[in-house]
Amino acid sequence: MRFFPGLIVISLLVLAQPRGTLARVHSHPITVQEKSASSHPETKPSDYAGADACKTCHEEEYKSWENSPHWKTTLNTKEGPSRQGCEACHGAAASHVADPSDTSKLFLFEKASAKDINQRCLVCHASGTQHMQAINSLHAKNDVSCTSCHSPHHAKQAEFLLVKSQPELCYSCHLQQKAQFAMPFHHRVNEGLLQCSDCHNPHGTVRPHQLRTSAAQDAVCYKCHADKQGPFVFEHEVVKVEGCESCHNPHGSPNPHLMKLSNVNLLCLQCHTTSFANAPGAPSFHNQATQFQACTLCHTQIHGSNFDKDFFK
Ligand code: HEC
Ligand code: HEC
Ligand code: HEC
Ligand code: HEC
Ligand code: HEC
Ligand code: HEC
Ligand code: HEC
Ligand code: HEC
Ligand code: HEC
Ligand code: HEC
Repeated sequence: MRFFPGLIVISLLVLAQPRGTLARVHSHPITVQEKSASSHPETKPSDYAGADACKTCHEEEYKSWENSPHWKTTLNTKEGPSRQGCEACHGAAASHVADPSDTSKLFLFEKASAKDINQRCLVCHASGTQHMQAINSLHAKNDVSCTSCHSPHHAKQAEFLLVKSQPELCYSCHLQQKAQFAMPFHHRVNEGLLQCSDCHNPHGTVRPHQLRTSAAQDAVCYKCHADKQGPFVFEHEVVKVEGCESCHNPHGSPNPHLMKLSNVNLLCLQCHTTSFANAPGAPSFHNQATQFQACTLCHTQIHGSNFDKDFFK
C-alpha cells in the first residue's frame, strides 16, 4: 500500500464521481500525477504491450527487471498497465514494439531532466515518511535525481538498487566529507559501523542538512547516544538549545571525542566569559593565566546532571 499513493487518489476519484462516469475512470486509470510525469498525456490500455513483449529484444533488461523488486508491479492488476512492468517506467510501448525504431513515445531516462525522472519514480514512491520530502530535497533542487543513486537495471548493490554502496556513493560527490571521515577521530562510517543514511535522509527531510528526524533538536544523535538525552534536573542549556554541534564535529575531528577544539578550556570559554550574554562567566578563581586544569576535570557531567547545578557529579 505504501508504494501506491495513486490507489488512494483513484479510490477517492471513484467515490467522488457521479455514477455515469465510473466506467470511464476504471478503463482509464490515469491520475493527475501521472499525466504531468508522462511525456505523452493520453494513453489507453491498447497502447501498452506488456513486459513479455519486450523480452525477445531486450533480454538483458528483462532479466535485471525480473530479478529486482520491480517485478512486483505486475501484481498490481488494479491500476492497469500504466503501473505495470517495463512500461510503468518507460511509458506505453505498443507502437515501439510494432516498429522498434519508433522510440518517440518512450520515456528515455538518459535524455530526461532530473525533475522529470524524479516525478516519474515518485508516481509510486512518494508516500511514507522516507520519501515525503523527496521533491523539495536539496538533492532534487540541485538536479540530483533518483537515477544518480539508483539504477533499476545496472545496480552495483542489489539492496536498494544502488549504483554504488555507501559511503562511496556519497563520496563520489561529497569530497569534503570524505576528508572529514578520514580524520583521526571519526564516526566509523568507512569501517561500516554506521552509515551516512543513519543521520541523513538522502531523500530529504524537513530539517536542515537533510538530517533525519522529527521535532526535537538533535534527536538524530539521541537515537544512538540515548544517555545524553536526559531530561536532566540540571540541563546544560547549550546542549538543548544549540545542540551537539556546538562542541562536537559530527563527522570527524583531529581531536578526541570529536571535539571542535583541541583545548577544551578554550571551547568552554567561548561562552563562559563575562561578555557572553546567556552563560555565566567562569568564577575568578578559574585563573587561566596559570595552566588551569581541564574544565571537565571538575565539571564532569558536561551534558547535564541530576545532582549538581555545576555538573560536578
Ligand atoms: C522487435 C524488437 C524490440 C521489441 C519487441 C522491443 N524493443 Fe525496445 N528497442 C528495440 C531497438 C532496436 C531499440 C533501439 C532503437 C533506436 O535507438 O532507434 C530499442 C530501444 C528501446 C529503448 C530505448 C533505449 C535507449 O538506449 O535509450 C527502450 C527504453 C525500449 N526499447 C524499451 C522497450 C520496451 C519497454 C519494450 C516492451 C514493451 C520494448 N522496448 C520492446 C527493439 C525492441
Ligand atoms: C523502475 C523503472 C524501470 C523499469 C520497471 C524498467 N526500466 Fe528500463 N530503464 C530504467 C532506467 C532508469 C534506465 C536508465 C539506465 C539505468 O539507470 O539503469 C533504463 C534503461 C533501459 C534501456 C536502455 C539500455 C540500458 O540498459 O540502459 C532499455 C532498453 C530498457 N531500460 C528496457 C526495459 C525493459 C525491457 C524493461 C522491462 C523488462 C524495463 N526497462 C523496466 C528504468 C526502468
Ligand atoms: C543521493 C542519493 C539518493 C537519491 C538522489 C535517491 N535515493 Fe533512494 N536511497 C538512497 C539510499 C542510500 C537508500 C538506502 C538507505 C536508506 O534507507 O535511506 C535509498 C533507499 C531507497 C528506497 C528503499 C527504501 C525505502 O525506505 O523506501 C527507495 C524506494 C528509494 N530509495 C527510492 C528513491 C526515489 C524514488 C528517488 C528519487 C525521487 C530516490 N530514491 C533518490 C539514496 C538515494
Ligand atoms: C509502477 C510503480 C513504480 C515505479 C514507477 C517505480 N517503482 Fe520502484 N518499486 C515499486 C515497487 C512495487 C517496489 C517493491 C516494493 C516492495 O518490495 O515492497 C519498488 C522498489 C523500489 C526500490 C527498493 C528496492 C529494494 O531493494 O528494497 C527502489 C530503490 C526503487 N523501487 C527505486 C525506483 C526508482 C529509482 C524508480 C524510477 C526510475 C522507480 N523505483 C519507479 C514500484 C515502482
Ligand atoms: C553521526 C551522524 C552523521 C553521520 C554518520 C553523517 N553525518 Fe553528515 N552531518 C551530520 C550533522 C549533525 C550535520 C550538520 C552539521 C552542522 O550543523 O554543523 C551534517 C552535515 C552534513 C553536510 C552539510 C555540510 C556540512 O559538512 O556541514 C553534508 C554534505 C553531509 N553531512 C554529508 C554526509 C555524508 C556524505 C556522510 C557519510 C559519508 C555523512 N554526512 C554522515 C551528521 C552526520
Ligand atoms: C550525484 C552527486 C551526489 C551524490 C551521489 C550524493 N550527493 Fe548529497 N548533495 C549533492 C548536491 C549537488 C547537493 C546540494 C549542494 C550542496 O549542498 O553540496 C547535496 C546535498 C547534500 C546534503 C545537504 C548539504 C547541506 O549543505 O545542507 C546532504 C546532507 C547530502 N547531500 C548527503 C548525501 C548522502 C548521505 C549521500 C549518499 C547516500 C549523497 N549526499 C550523495 C550531490 C550528491
Ligand atoms: C558544551 C559542550 C558539549 C556539548 C553541547 C555536547 N558535548 Fe558531548 N562532550 C563534551 C566534552 C567536553 C566531552 C569530553 C568529556 C570528557 O573529556 O570527559 C564530550 C564527550 C562526549 C562523548 C564521549 C564520552 C561520553 O560521555 O560518552 C559523547 C558520546 C558525546 N559527548 C556525545 C554528545 C552528544 C550526543 C551531544 C548532543 C546531545 C553532545 N555530546 C553535546 C562537550 C559537549
Ligand atoms: C547510528 C548510531 C549513531 C548516531 C546516530 C550517532 N552516533 Fe555518535 N557514535 C556512535 C558510535 C557507535 C560511536 C563509537 C564509535 C567508535 O567506537 O568508533 C560514536 C561515537 C561518538 C563520539 C565519540 C565518543 C568517544 O568516546 O570519543 C561522539 C562525541 C559522538 N559519537 C557524537 C555524536 C553526535 C554529536 C551525533 C549526532 C550528530 C551522533 N554521535 C550520532 C553511533 C552513533
Ligand atoms: C555555546 C556556549 C557554551 C559552551 C561552549 C559551553 N557552555 Fe556551559 N553554559 C552555557 C549556557 C547558555 C549555560 C546556562 C546558563 C544558565 O542556565 O543561566 C551554561 C551553563 C554552564 C554551567 C552551570 C552554570 C550554573 O548555572 O551554575 C557550567 C558549570 C558550565 N556551563 C560549564 C561549561 C563547561 C565546563 C564547558 C566546556 C566543556 C561549557 N560550559 C561550554 C553555554 C555554553
Ligand atoms: C578544580 C576544579 C574546577 C575546574 C578545573 C573548573 N571549575 Fe568551574 N567551578 C568550580 C567550582 C568549585 C565552582 C563554584 C561552584 C559554586 O560556587 O557553587 C565552579 C563554577 C563554575 C561556573 C558557574 C559560575 C556561576 O556563576 O554559577 C562556571 C560557568 C564554570 N565553573 C566554568 C568553568 C570553566 C569554563 C572551566 C574551564 C576553563 C572550569 N569551570 C574549570 C570548579 C572548577
